[in-house]
Parts: sequence; C-alpha cells; structure tokens
Amino acid sequence: MTATGAPEPPLHQPVLRDTVLRWLAPRSGGRYLDGTFGRGGHTEAILAADPGALVLGLDKDPDAAPAAAALAARDPRFRFLAADFSELGSALDEVGWDQVDGILLDLGLSSPQLETPERGFALRHDGPLDMRYDPGSGETAAELLDRLDEREIADLLFGIGERRSRAIARRIAGRRPLRTTGDLRAAVIAAVGPRRGRIDPATRTFLAVRSAVNREPQALAAALHAAPARLRNEGVLAVISYHSGEDRPVKHAFRRLAAQPEFELGTRRPIRADEDELSANRRSRSACLRILRRREAGESEPAPQEESPR
Ligand SMILES: C[S@@+](CC[C@H](N)C(=O)[O-])C[C@H]1O[C@@H](n2cnc3c(N)ncnc32)[C@H](O)[C@@H]1O
Repeated sequence: MTATGAPEPPLHQPVLRDTVLRWLAPRSGGRYLDGTFGRGGHTEAILAADPGALVLGLDKDPDAAPAAAALAARDPRFRFLAADFSELGSALDEVGWDQVDGILLDLGLSSPQLETPERGFALRHDGPLDMRYDPGSGETAAELLDRLDEREIADLLFGIGERRSRAIARRIAGRRPLRTTGDLRAAVIAAVGPRRGRIDPATRTFLAVRSAVNREPQALAAALHAAPARLRNEGVLAVISYHSGEDRPVKHAFRRLAAQPEFELGTRRPIRADEDELSANRRSRSACLRILRRREAGESEPAPQEESPR
C-alpha cells in the first residue's frame, strides 16, 4: 500500500538516466540535490555511480516517502525531505549544504502517480478529480474547476496551447460539479468529439488542470531562480521537462544565465532520448533535458556542445 492508501503501482523508469549521470558526473564527496525524488530512480543511479556521492532528495508527494525511507535506511549517503522544490534553498539550509555539485529536476508526475486512479491524474482510469502531488494540501482539481469562472477555465486551457479552449470551458462550466476524471474527460469529448488520432482529446485539458492545481509554473520559476546560486564551480543544473509549457521557462532562464560569465549552457539544443530508450520507455518520448553549468572561476568560454558532456 502507498502512503495515500492506494495499492503500489508499477515502477517508474528514470528518464534519460545515463545522460543525466554523464552530466552530473557524480564524484566522491560530491553533493547532489534530486528535487523530484519520485521513486528514487535518478537518486539511486547517482548513489551507484560513485561510492562517495551524497544525495538530498525532495518530493512533496507523501507516496514518495516510503521508498525514500527505505533507501535512507540502507544507504546513509542519502537524506530525504518532504518538501516542494520551490523551497530548495531552505531544504539545502536545513541539511547544512551551502552549495552543491548538481541539481536535478525531473518535472511533472511519475508513472506510479499516473497509474494510480485514486490520485486522479489518469485519463485512462476513472478516479476522483484530485491531481494534487501533495493530497494533504491545496485545492483539488474538482474544487479548482468549481471555483473558476468559464472564462478563467478557458484562459487556463488556452495557456497550455488548447485550441478549443472556449468550447471545452463552456462544457466544463455547464456540467459542474465535476467529481471524477471520467466527468472531466466526458466534458472535453462533449465539446470536441471523440479521439481521432493517437492522442486523447482530453490530454491538454488534464495537463492544464494538473499544472494549475499544483502551481507548477510558479514552483518551477522559484526553483530556476534559487538553483543557480547554489551550484558550486563546475556544478550542473539538469532539468527534464515533458511539454513546451515546462521547457520554455527553462530555456529562457538558462539563456539569460548563460549570458553571464559564471554560467554556460551544456548543449546548444535540448537533449532527447535515443532510439533504444524511446522503444523501452514511452515516457521518454516527450522528455527534453537542458543543462546549465557553473564555470570554474577563471575558466574561458568554450562553445557549447551539440549533445555530449565533458
Ligand atoms: C517525473 S517524477 C520523478 C521521478 C524520479 N526522477 C525517479 O526516477 O523516480 C516527478 C516527481 O516530482 C514530484 N514533484 C512535482 N512537483 C514537485 C514540486 N514542486 N516539489 C517537489 N516535488 C515535486 C512529483 O510528486 C513526482 O514524484
């Protein structure tokens, strides 16, 4: 059973694991912050890469805590805090780490969250319309959609690139109160019709609502603001995003920072999964990794590479 009472779902395969490791290049005595612990796939890879590497993991989902506690019990190099990565500065202060050698944010939701109908993220299974990463705080998706007026719902959907935002918002408003993920999906289908291609017609709506419920843009902006100052010389900030609304602020923040002498982009273009990973892990299809590196003091400015790290 998970902490929220749901049965334990399938494991999460860490996306772009080997590439992230090549960039973080864990070393003995190195300190790494995994801001999105999930089930610890990336954290375990960092710990395994060097017997002297230390990791602090954060996650706001209580269902992440049992895996984190089990890992901390068998590996004293790991610590976990149930915290929002927007507060990564306070988390680092709490463990007495001023600066770190690497920070990883693997954004969005994990496979276990997606595959647990009780969490209310899934399009494919009916469940309560919840979608909170931390079910102990904040508004559920149902409460959010009850509170917003039709125009605010349309704006929310439009902001994530949903072209039929007005029609969908009208159906959502007209069918309230929506109580289940099935209610929300049915409202979208009533507005735009059933699935025609590969992608479910409610995909963008679910993404927009999840993002608003969890204040994802605000959390990401706060983390992008706080993280660079916490990197040691040669420290690396790695961010994996899964849609353009997540990737855009990362791209802009990294470009702004790379205009300063202390920072550089790891690669000119975002890094994507290779064919092997694409065929083994569906989730990797939309993954997009960007790297920012703090230069060593006095280091000159090499041109960013296309794909591979140091
Ligand atoms: C894609 S999963 C990470 C999976 C992880 N890298 C692994 O290999 O198991 C994203 C995780 O980040 C968590 N999360 C999302 N937003 C967060 C935030 N603002 N603060 C802390 N955790 C967050 C989610 O609860 C989820 O467990």
